Amino acid sequence: MPTVLGLETSCDESAAAIVRDGRVLASAIASQVEEHARWGGVVPEIASRRHVEALPQLLARVLADSGLSVADCDAVAATVAPGLVGALLVGSVTGRTLARLHGKPFLGVHHLEGHLCSVELGEPLPPGPYLVLLVSGGHTELVRVDGPGLYRRLGRSHDDAAGECFDKVARLLGLAYPGGPAIQAAAAAGDPRRFPLPKGRVSRPGGGYHPHDFSFSGLKTAVLRRVQALQEAGEPLPLADLAASFEQVVAEVLVERSCRCAADEGLDTLVLVGGVAANRRLRALLEQQATARNLSWRVAPLAWCTDNAAMIALAGERRFAAGRVSAIGLGVAPRLPLEQADRLYETQACF
Ligand code: KG4
Ligand code: ZN
Repeated sequence: MPTVLGLETSCDESAAAIVRDGRVLASAIASQVEEHARWGGVVPEIASRRHVEALPQLLARVLADSGLSVADCDAVAATVAPGLVGALLVGSVTGRTLARLHGKPFLGVHHLEGHLCSVELGEPLPPGPYLVLLVSGGHTELVRVDGPGLYRRLGRSHDDAAGECFDKVARLLGLAYPGGPAIQAAAAAGDPRRFPLPKGRVSRPGGGYHPHDFSFSGLKTAVLRRVQALQEAGEPLPLADLAASFEQVVAEVLVERSCRCAADEGLDTLVLVGGVAANRRLRALLEQQATARNLSWRVAPLAWCTDNAAMIALAGERRFAAGRVSAIGLGVAPRLPLEQADRLYETQACF
């Protein structure tokens, strides 16, 4: 029953958590959202500074809430890839310092492996293979999981991530950052069929389309054109209908391509994780379509969809239980793909 202290600082949430045997003993998150909202997106330099300020308090809180000390933990985990380089460094240096001070092993965690694990903070998944739709502010990926650490990316966005698209569209609709929750709230009373919007597709060099890939930049432009046309006509913006139509098309395209990918790969289980997985319309559509196609489906618990440290601690716990630890000199890798997450546990630090 390993007990792992986890730290997360890859973007704009500072977080600490303690997980034991897949159960969350304590978790604390300090969001920087309000600070970045003024700029309409994350400002990397501000993010790093806020992580430095927030981590000591978060750490004190999870230790107090769990009644444990760092010495009671078996290992310390921190996100080291991918993300903003300065932000990642704060968690990595803090985690490695704590590990060193207390003579504990260090686990450098891949943030996306953390998101994959988030679903198991609800209940454990059956052994793979299964297909994960990972949708966050920085990533939109379809990942085949064949077992612990065995990942193959089968689909991706060629431009904006789904969450990024929510954030950009919210901005042009005059809604707050982050855009996902704001659009969801605005869309609640809207008509999702009022404005037909494009389901961006990615052409293949030899003709046809990538069946499992995504493109969201054209959708953002289409919403912008709609808004401009309405403004030029002097009409008030039908915010609820625009938000609902946008949310609907994003949910449809994500679910349709995921189901298609599962069918093409012969996979019968679909798993939804990442910040955008908090979206009600997307969760409902996935459940409906997966059921209609006889697929099993699992969605990350709402509390663990957006960035948190419990999922990082759990990913670390899984690696630790499998006998893996990271080199204490491990650095950060802002762009490391998930398929290469194993490199974080090589005896000699590779970066
Ligand atoms: O996973 P996450 O917290 O951070 C990254 O790793 O990127 O995801 C953040 C993203 C943001 O783009 C935010 O707008 C989106 O998740 N998001 C949502 C909702 N809640 C958060 N998107 C749609 N509907 C939501 N309810
Ligand atoms: Zn994330």
